[in-house]
Amino acid sequence: MSKVKCIGILTSGGDAPGMNAAIRAVTRAAICNGLAVKGIYRGYKGLITNEISEFQTQNVSNIIQQGGTILKTARCKEFTTPEGRKLAYDNMQAQGIDALVIIGGDGSLTGARIFAQEFDVPCIGLPGTIDNDLYGTDTTIGYDTALNTILDAVDKIRDTATSHERLFFIEVMGRDAGFLALNGAIAAGAEAAIIPELSTEVDQLQELISNGFRKSKSSSIVLVAESEITGGAMHYAERVKKEFPQYDVRVSILGHVQRGGRPTAHDRILASRMGVAAIDALLEGQRNVMIGIQNNEVVYVPFTRAIKNDKPIDMNLVRVLRELSI
Ligand code: F6P
Repeated sequence: MSKVKCIGILTSGGDAPGMNAAIRAVTRAAICNGLAVKGIYRGYKGLITNEISEFQTQNVSNIIQQGGTILKTARCKEFTTPEGRKLAYDNMQAQGIDALVIIGGDGSLTGARIFAQEFDVPCIGLPGTIDNDLYGTDTTIGYDTALNTILDAVDKIRDTATSHERLFFIEVMGRDAGFLALNGAIAAGAEAAIIPELSTEVDQLQELISNGFRKSKSSSIVLVAESEITGGAMHYAERVKKEFPQYDVRVSILGHVQRGGRPTAHDRILASRMGVAAIDALLEGQRNVMIGIQNNEVVYVPFTRAIKNDKPIDMNLVRVLRELSI
């Protein structure tokens, strides 16, 4: 196995707060260890169209506090084709890049897995997504910031919900994963969370109503995870209007506000630790693994495991929410 001398770094898929902190950490740790760094713009698209430039430490100055990604990001259809990946590989070779660090979510790491296998290129992934849906890491870069953004919004909505004595369904992101909804609901003191992981098992609305979710309360907040499986917040509001017309119902869809903003301390530290670990992994000869942090320890998670879409919801958290919402 030849020694890595020059790494390419890219961000891909939905942006997440803390991606810049990760770019900074990977760049600086690489330079510290004598590696050259090239920044690839617009995710895999930039690898195909050769939008690549050399990075020095100054390129990543003053970005740790910024949301979004200075490298920009994209969801690239062309990279899902063998022809697109061959163009990407040819550009990599021409640029002298011999390993890649990919910061992104499930789709981005799936792309990395296929590319690494096809061309025998060392690839290291950093879990960058607000959804927290990658197996093998306690949290993903951006998740904590998004959770805090949700809290900010829910705290405000609570003021108007209480004043008008309304039932609010608040839809949060998560792409078919309930982590933001469940932990957001616990932290916001909401009455319930409707999450895809439980939607096939029970009618969560029926359960909510039959548990007498309002009891002594005159207003209520329910967080709903966006997903075709749950049907989203509008679906539940429509149902309540029909089935329980006594409730004054409103819907709030938080949307992309959840993806922006200054990363929290948690996300900056996570991204910094993971960025340094990505370079350690490459220098140790690791390839095709995602960096995770479990119980405060860095771990290497094979791509095949990380992207299997089976990070489980902790049922204890479901119980915590239920018991505290009486
Ligand atoms: O994966 C991050 C995420 O924000 C998901 O929660 C959401 O489903 C999706 O991206 C939205 O993607 P887009 O910005 O492309 O509409």
